[in-house]
Amino acid sequence: MNQKTALITGVTGQDGSYLAELLVAKGYAVHGIVRRSSVPHTERIAALLAGRDRPARITLHHADLSDANSLRHVIDQVAPDEVYNLAAQSHVRVSFDQPEYTVDVTGTGVLRLLEAIRNYAAHTRREVRLYQAGSSEMFGSAAPPQSETTRFQPRSPYACAKVYAHYQVVNYRESYGMYACNGILFNHESPRRGENFVTRKITRAAARIKLGLQSRLALGNLDARRDWGYAGDYVEAMWRIMQHPTPQDFVIATGITISIRDFLALAFEHAGLDWRAHVDTDARLYRPAEVDELQGDYRKAAAELGWSPRTSVAELARMMVDSDLRLAQHEAATGVVSGQGPE
Ligand code: NAP
Ligand code: GDD
Repeated sequence: MNQKTALITGVTGQDGSYLAELLVAKGYAVHGIVRRSSVPHTERIAALLAGRDRPARITLHHADLSDANSLRHVIDQVAPDEVYNLAAQSHVRVSFDQPEYTVDVTGTGVLRLLEAIRNYAAHTRREVRLYQAGSSEMFGSAAPPQSETTRFQPRSPYACAKVYAHYQVVNYRESYGMYACNGILFNHESPRRGENFVTRKITRAAARIKLGLQSRLALGNLDARRDWGYAGDYVEAMWRIMQHPTPQDFVIATGITISIRDFLALAFEHAGLDWRAHVDTDARLYRPAEVDELQGDYRKAAAELGWSPRTSVAELARMMVDSDLRLAQHEAATGVVSGQGPE
């Protein structure tokens, strides 16, 4: 049987790590790109890298979405059947502070990748499939529920960049017949979620407060509503989108929306705490423009891909708090606090 080769950009991120595990389990040869940093960001994929008694199960390459040559070089070297573009400056609030950088990586970066794949496919006469990590943030102020036919009304530099990328993917599909598709994923979380996204900020704080390592948690807008799913379920949807006979765009969501306040209650109750005794609101954590309510209609994915979410938001909150309690216990024992940075 021919082994398929996949290239994942953003392999060190939350989704990249789950997707790499999934594809390795499915028998793919998995390659990932990492950008240069002063210390490696490979904690999430450590189990897939070489260890004392085991060889590496994925291959890493240096490249960057801001550098077209590096993308061309990696695609020539890897000769992938499937490319999953998960790399992005993915933080909405940060995109207001660094709009130009965000648009360059999250928007123009996708154009660079499309061109690299188009050139490679033209000179090798091979099909290379592309998955683009689109976002429910693109719907912005559009009324819920949002589906594949809802008009995008982006509300941040990040969302504008993702809308640009979305339409370039559609454009390359229509102009050159490329197999390129957009997954429009609603928020998805896990114990591996970055610590400056709201769910993880909440579960980290609940665990640390429980163990007496911190007493207060500062948050911004508690009224926003999100449709939160589990990242492990969502990478399965990415793979299914890429196996569909025709390239198409799909909404991936749970269909259930709750507020930040509701998520606080789920997480703190699981830790045996009352969130109202610990949370402060801080105006500096509000965004210049907010996306008030996201709720996805994933009926197309259910019908065409046979995909549906398996993890409820309550189970997700419990899974994250349990994991963060273990992390907090480790911090209490060693005195080393991980993941500190600007909010
Ligand atoms: P994440 O944890 O922030 O991971 C982002 C990844 O992109 C990291 O591996 C990061 O590398 C890499 N990256 C950043 N800038 C890069 C550059 N210039 N060149 C190459 N790589 C770069 O994000 P995630 O939650 O896994 O999300 C994956 C993708 O889905 C992103 O495109 C995000 O915008 C999109 N998305 C996420 C959600 C969600 O709820 N999680 C929902 C919809 C869409 P470092 O490790 O070096 O930082
Ligand atoms: N990050 C953060 N920090 N968000 C806060 C805070 C806080 O202290 N307090 C309130 N919030 C609110 C935000 O204003 C927003 O309404 C909501 O919590 C969720 O914020 P994030 O967890 O940062 O996620 P996001 O919805 O902005 O973006 C995530 O989901 C998108 C898909 O809809 C990211 O993963 C994006 O990359 C992704 O595309």
